[in-house]
Parts: sequence; C-alpha cells; structure tokens
Amino acid sequence: MRWEDNLIAERPSFVSHLECAMTGERLEADQVHNLSRAGKPLLVRYDLAAMRKALTKDALAQRAPDLWRYRELLPVRKAEHIVSLGETMTPLIRMPGLSATLGSDEILVKDEGRLPTGSFKARGLVMAVSMAKALGIKHMAMPTNGNAGAALAAYATHAGIKSTIFCPEDTPEVNVSEIALQGATVYRVNGLIDDCGKIVGEGRAKVGWFDVSTLKEPYRIEGKKTMGLELVEQLGWEVPDAIFYPTGGGTGLIGMWKAFAELEAIGFIGAKRPRMIAVQAAGCAPMVRAFEAGQEHAPRWENAHTIASGIRVPQAIGDFLILRAVRESGGFAIAVSDEAINAALDAVARAEGLLLCPEGAATYAAYQQSLAEGRIKRSDRVVLFNCASGLKYPMPPVRRTLDRLKPIDFAAL
Ligand SMILES: Cc1ncc(COP(=O)(O)O)c(C=O)c1O
Repeated sequence: MRWEDNLIAERPSFVSHLECAMTGERLEADQVHNLSRAGKPLLVRYDLAAMRKALTKDALAQRAPDLWRYRELLPVRKAEHIVSLGETMTPLIRMPGLSATLGSDEILVKDEGRLPTGSFKARGLVMAVSMAKALGIKHMAMPTNGNAGAALAAYATHAGIKSTIFCPEDTPEVNVSEIALQGATVYRVNGLIDDCGKIVGEGRAKVGWFDVSTLKEPYRIEGKKTMGLELVEQLGWEVPDAIFYPTGGGTGLIGMWKAFAELEAIGFIGAKRPRMIAVQAAGCAPMVRAFEAGQEHAPRWENAHTIASGIRVPQAIGDFLILRAVRESGGFAIAVSDEAINAALDAVARAEGLLLCPEGAATYAAYQQSLAEGRIKRSDRVVLFNCASGLKYPMPPVRRTLDRLKPIDFAAL
C-alpha cells in the first residue's frame, strides 16, 4: 500500500444515475445538476449489484486510511479529478471517564475535527469540488454558518476554481478569516443562513456561479456518506446502537443513512441499523418540532438563536429526508439548551481532555438528557459526532497570572 494509491490509482466508480429524493425522477450522471424538476434534492445511485461482485472487505482493508479508500462508492470517476488536502480517516475515541460517571457501557466520539479545515464539512466539499472540476465548473458560491464556507474556500482554491461565500453577520471571526485567507471572496450578510442562501440563488442567473448550498447539488451528501462507511468499518462492519448527530441542514445524517443502505446492498452489513438521533438547539429546533408533531416537513423556525452556530439552520431543504431517516431508524429528534451545551463542553474537556465544538457538545448534552428520560439504555453503544475541532471556537479567557518579580507561593499553586 502506497500512501497516495487511493488518489492516483484508476478504480471504477459504480455510479449509474441520479434520482430525485421525492419523486424518483431519473437523471443522467456526469452532467451539471442542482435540484430535480420538483425542486427537491438529487441522490446519486450506484450499480450496487455489480459493486457487490467487485469490492471486498479484504481489498478495502489493504487501502490507505483516508476517505478515498471508498472510491467505488463515490461519484468521482477519474483520479485526475480528485482534489485532495489529505482527508484522513477520523478516530473513534472512547470516553471511559464519562462512561464511568454515567454508568454507561460505551460512549464513543467520532472526532471530525482532524479533517482539513478542522471540520467534517471537508468531506462534503472535497466531493462537490472534485465533481465540479470533473464537470468543468469555474465559479462556486454558497451560504454558510462558517465551517462549510471554510471547506469550500480551501478546496475550490486548491482546484483553481473561484468561490464566493455569504455568511450571517455574527459568524465567528475565525471562520470568516479562514474563508478569506483560503482565497474565497466572503461577505457578511445581515440575516441568517437561509437569507444568505437566497442571495446565492439569485446570483445563479445574474453571475453564473454554481450553487453549492446544502443538498442543492448532489455530491456533498456523497462525501458526508463516508462518515457512515468509515464508522462501520472501524467497528468491524457492525453498526452502533445509536448515533447522536448535531443536525442543521442534515447532510451528514442523510448521508450516513444512505451509506448503511448501500453497505447492506453490497453485503457488507446486515439489516440492523443504528437509531439516528437528530440533535438540535432549543433556540432552533425545527426538526424536533416536526418530529414530535408527526409532520413530514419542518416549517421555518423563527428567531433562531444558539451558540452552536453550525446547527442554527431555521429551515432545511432535506427536512423530509432527515425526518424519514430518524423515524425509519427508530430514533428521535431532541433539543438541548445553550446552558446544557456549555456544561457538556466543559464536562467532556475536563473529564476526557477532549475539546469539542459546541455542536459536538450538544450531542453529549442530548445523550445525558436521553439517558435521564429513558430514551436510551446505559448498555447501548453510542457514537457522538464531534463535527469540528473545538479550537475553531472562542474560548473563555484564563485570568490566572503570576507576578514573576514577587516570591511565588508554591504551596498555593
Ligand atoms: C460543527 C458543525 N456541526 C454540525 C453542523 C450541521 O451539519 P449538517 O448540515 O450535516 O446537519 C454544522 C454545519 O454547519 C457544523 O458546522
């Protein structure tokens, strides 16, 4: 195994066509697409019967530990179109201290902060930009709460593609700066992410850029799908009992759900599925409200607010796909307060030495709440998704100082 084999070897993609997630309308692969005719997300479909014959677990096990080890299950056909910044497999980390405190058998954190640009958004954007390169797209635009824009900026620049990005005006400074430093043009907008999305939509005709908003192009979800592929492979081709996922636009949750179906179809896993638990913030919980009301779609959440900016998404175009996956899996949607998110962030950092992002901390808060409400068993093997490095977020200042010119009272330290 050479480290870059996954990036340079010619391996077949088994893509067959694209399909409207709502109506089943069939569209040709290898052409530029945004939404279906019904205005709904498009899903990439593969010839899974052929893949079943061609791909083995043993062959996969020989490959380098990165996202591109799953080339057969990804849409990029030619190695020359892969735009890589080093999409390493992310670790599953045990939380023995927290498990002991809560009396739980197994809490695992999948730490996505190790990816390029410090977040799981790299998975989706590396795929969208690689496909844009394959399809000859020259200019990409998107709305972002921060992390997705940073990933688009990085990959588009690496591929020599122009990028223009719009974010809510209170987006963390670090995100706006990294987007600009990584070569994109970035604007702060006095509104929320869906207001930014409207600007991107209007600019499609006026500027001619390609709209790479969440689920408005077919490939980000294929990149996010690799979270599910990777997780199951790491667990020896077994699914966990439950996955707690911080849900904004929901690409990751939908992508993982798709991954499990594809893995079953190629014979790598059985029919068991993890319970998918969509975690939202109490100040922006459209999926929780729709889940509890038994609705298929989630109406816009007005006055959305939370410190976990990545999940401050008032309305999601893939709402019906998120709710479908949560329901089919026997999972649920749950909201946690900002206070609980802060407390969870603190607890995990102090007990385990792992600095989560606020969205990741929300999953631990939700896990605790679910245990207390009896919605999850202590014996369940659970995976919490930490979607970004905690280092990307503002931290409370430390005010403890020492005056080196005075005698130091070491007994008090
Ligand atoms: C750190 C973090 N967690 C979670 C999310 C939500 O992800 P998704 O759109 O897959 O629901 C985001 C999106 O911006 C994010 O940045």
